[in-house]
Amino acid sequence: MTSGLHVACIMDGNGRWAEHRGLPRTAGHTEGEENLARIVRVAVRRDIGWLTVFGFSTENWVRPRGEVRHILGLHERLFGRVRELNELNVRIQWIGRPFDSAEARTPKYVQRAIRKAIHDTATNTGMVLTVAFDYGGRAELMSAVRAARASGEPVTPETIGTHLYLPELPPVDVLVRTSGERRVSNFLLWQSAGAKIHFSEAPWPDFDERELDAALALVR
Ligand code: FPP
Repeated sequence: MTSGLHVACIMDGNGRWAEHRGLPRTAGHTEGEENLARIVRVAVRRDIGWLTVFGFSTENWVRPRGEVRHILGLHERLFGRVRELNELNVRIQWIGRPFDSAEARTPKYVQRAIRKAIHDTATNTGMVLTVAFDYGGRAELMSAVRAARASGEPVTPETIGTHLYLPELPPVDVLVRTSGERRVSNFLLWQSAGAKIHFSEAPWPDFDERELDAALALVR
């Protein structure tokens, strides 16, 4: 059994990390994906129950095509880390606009990688890693309210809660945002209602064990 603590991360600053080194922004995203794999290992050691990360938002589609393509490829890579996740007993999930909804934009090859990883890690009993892809908090809330109304239920916090994309996702205990930005950026608006917030100056590729411990100190 894990602690049940829910940590959510807005992984900002990959582009700036790369630009400071004279590298293309895509190199920052590559390093960001690798750092996420490192942070997953640390989070497991720290007995975190739920780790949710913002991989790609409903607003990110307007970025240059090459950058979007690169980030999509990194999601394919991340969801392909099944062996690693199984060794860590981590179950992976995805949160975002349902693939069959009119507004959804997740391409088929990313959908396939997501479905396969979810299936191949489904029996793991340790930390749950949830990756937000094509996710926006407002879109999630709109769809939950619509679903509650369509089912004839009164619109209450409880009925909204049962119609969220992942109703079993617990409330966020601590929300982390890296790279000196102090915004919530439409991430887990409902689930973060009572969250503590840890703002880190480090760009995401440099967010390390020490930084994670500083975030955990807010709630432990
Ligand atoms: C912000 O950096 C990061 C994102 C657009 C989303 C997070 C993406 C990653 C960590 C890479 C891959 C991750 C996964 C989950 C496969 P930015 O480009 O906004 O940085 P900047 O503010 O310095 O420009």
